[in-house]
Amino acid sequence: MSREVILFIAVSLDGFIAKEDDDLQWLMETEGEGDNGYSEMYQSIDTTIMGKRTYDWVREHLEIFPYTDKKNYVFSTTQTGSNEYVEFVNEDVVEFTKKLKAQQGSKIWMVGGGVILDAFIKENVIDEYIITVTPHILGSGIPLFKERNPQINLQLINTRRFGQFVELHYKVK
Ligand SMILES: NC(=O)c1ccc[n+]([C@@H]2O[C@H](COP(=O)([O-])OP(=O)(O)OC[C@H]3O[C@@H](n4cnc5c(N)ncnc54)[C@H](OP(=O)(O)O)[C@@H]3O)[C@@H](O)[C@H]2O)c1
Repeated sequence: MSREVILFIAVSLDGFIAKEDDDLQWLMETEGEGDNGYSEMYQSIDTTIMGKRTYDWVREHLEIFPYTDKKNYVFSTTQTGSNEYVEFVNEDVVEFTKKLKAQQGSKIWMVGGGVILDAFIKENVIDEYIITVTPHILGSGIPLFKERNPQINLQLINTRRFGQFVELHYKVK
């Protein structure tokens, strides 16, 4: 059996994962509860995959790279090689991820952002969606889902409330 790719991401009520200027202050300021399900998710994975802009955001905004105990892949067409934290991947992202899924291991966390995720949605490569909704109508920004996607039918596994957050957990049927 192949291991699962999970999308664990926070989104405003109107479907944005960041404001246009990459501002996540609205998310950081939301009153949650405990770690809002993060450590539970984090323990279930051994690999992260993300787009280059999300990687850059993490490096710019967090003092310490947060996923050092995982294998981390960053998809990019401009950067190659690796550093102490991540390996840059220039191959077809979907084919690469299918190869990863065929290897032994725990779950794979698709961290984001919107551009890289779009390639995954278009090919239906996400197995589980864990979407944490924040109490904001941002009005504009980077959307979680872009247009012209295939229809993907899901099964609701669980819902949880963490303070002002609501976590929706789905599996692809
Ligand atoms: N709300 C949340 O929980 C959450 C989670 C994650 C991210 N975010 C936010 O989302 C924003 C970033 O999202 P984004 O949509 O702008 O960018 P992104 O998807 O993180 O990264 C886009 C970059 O990934 C590379 N890429 C994209 N498609 C590729 C492909 N098919 N093959 C190889 N490389 C590819 C390209 O890098 P190159 O230009 O190097 O080729 C592209 O510029 C940030 O503000 C971040 O903070 C929010």
